[in-house]
Amino acid sequence: MPPSTPLKLAVFSAKSYDKTYLDSVLTAQYPSLCEISYHPFPLSLETAPLAAEHRAICAFVNDTLDAPVIRALHATGTRALLLRCAGYNNVDLSTAEELGLFVANVPSYSPEAVAEFTIALLQTLNRNTHRAYNRVREGNFNLEGLMGQTLHGKTVGIVGTGRIGLALARIVRGFGCRLLASDPKPGLSEEEFAREYGGQFVDLKTLLGQSDIVSLHCPLTRGTRHIIDTENLGYMKKGALLVNTSRGPLINTKAAIEALKSGTLGGLALDVYEEEGAYFYNDHSHEIIHDDTLMRLMTFPNVLVCGHQAFFTREALTEIAGTTLANLQDWVEGRHCANSLVREGHLAVADGKEPVRGI
Ligand code: NAI
Repeated sequence: MPPSTPLKLAVFSAKSYDKTYLDSVLTAQYPSLCEISYHPFPLSLETAPLAAEHRAICAFVNDTLDAPVIRALHATGTRALLLRCAGYNNVDLSTAEELGLFVANVPSYSPEAVAEFTIALLQTLNRNTHRAYNRVREGNFNLEGLMGQTLHGKTVGIVGTGRIGLALARIVRGFGCRLLASDPKPGLSEEEFAREYGGQFVDLKTLLGQSDIVSLHCPLTRGTRHIIDTENLGYMKKGALLVNTSRGPLINTKAAIEALKSGTLGGLALDVYEEEGAYFYNDHSHEIIHDDTLMRLMTFPNVLVCGHQAFFTREALTEIAGTTLANLQDWVEGRHCANSLVREGHLAVADGKEPVRGI
């Protein structure tokens, strides 16, 4: 049912950029849709009371939307849960459905942003620009240890040819690389992939065995968790580079560390990390980091770690804010929302499609 005006929206885990983009889209496109209050802290059972009398809340990847939180929100008047991200495994959809709540996400926004960042990570790792940057600032112009490889002619293996994987395929083609891909359910035929991207579908083992660079772009599901483990690392070409801008748990980090120590893996570039929830998106520079695996990773000269920022462009944030508010508008006006995760009497999430974590 459409809420009575004024509709109040409580945004949790709000950063300055969330406020900037949501406010800007609200003013430009939905001036009378809602009043927004921003909370910098995450949504939890303790913070849920701050959403009292807010008909809608907006959450991000590390907010808690389990059954107790959803019930607490519902008890104080919340009826719509807006996720400003694609992943929804932190949401108890059954409870939301049982209580008749509206839940919607932002399934896609600027795949090119993620693909371009993948290249930024790859080339930083490959050409050692991160090390050169520090060296030169200290007046050290020595090139020893900075040698990379020319990408032209190298084989790039893309695991997952969805929106982001294909955006990367287009870029990689421009570099003059040979392109391999593995995907159990590709959205295009072998012929199309060959014609439009110059690529070839192979099984994962072949891809790992032939690629100089492997980039992960499949979603996190029970089937893809630790898709890169000791066994699959063993199939990789010695010295190959591995890039993960998809989801941390795709890689068994401890197995990757062993492969780095033995030199089997030539380098690792991560935008995501298995246990990122404890640290990512916040400043922990004044604290002791207790995650020894993460800290071990940071000691390798051939490992790059970024804090889940591949999506982080002006264009993507504009898209996220626009879709989030469009979802709210659909609900307010009682229209069908294409991004709804819950619908009349049953979950909109297709059987067998497992929730993925994150943005
Ligand atoms: P998509 O849904 O368009 O494509 C995923 C592809 O992976 C599909 O073609 C699917 O068939 C394939 N796939 C599924 N299981 C596979 C397997 N076992 N092996 C190989 N391929 C498999 O997803 P999209 O939009 O391309 O995003 C991919 C992932 O990127 C998301 O699931 C998300 O985890 C991550 N992501 C990361 C961001 C960041 O800021 N670092 C931002 C946005 C997404």
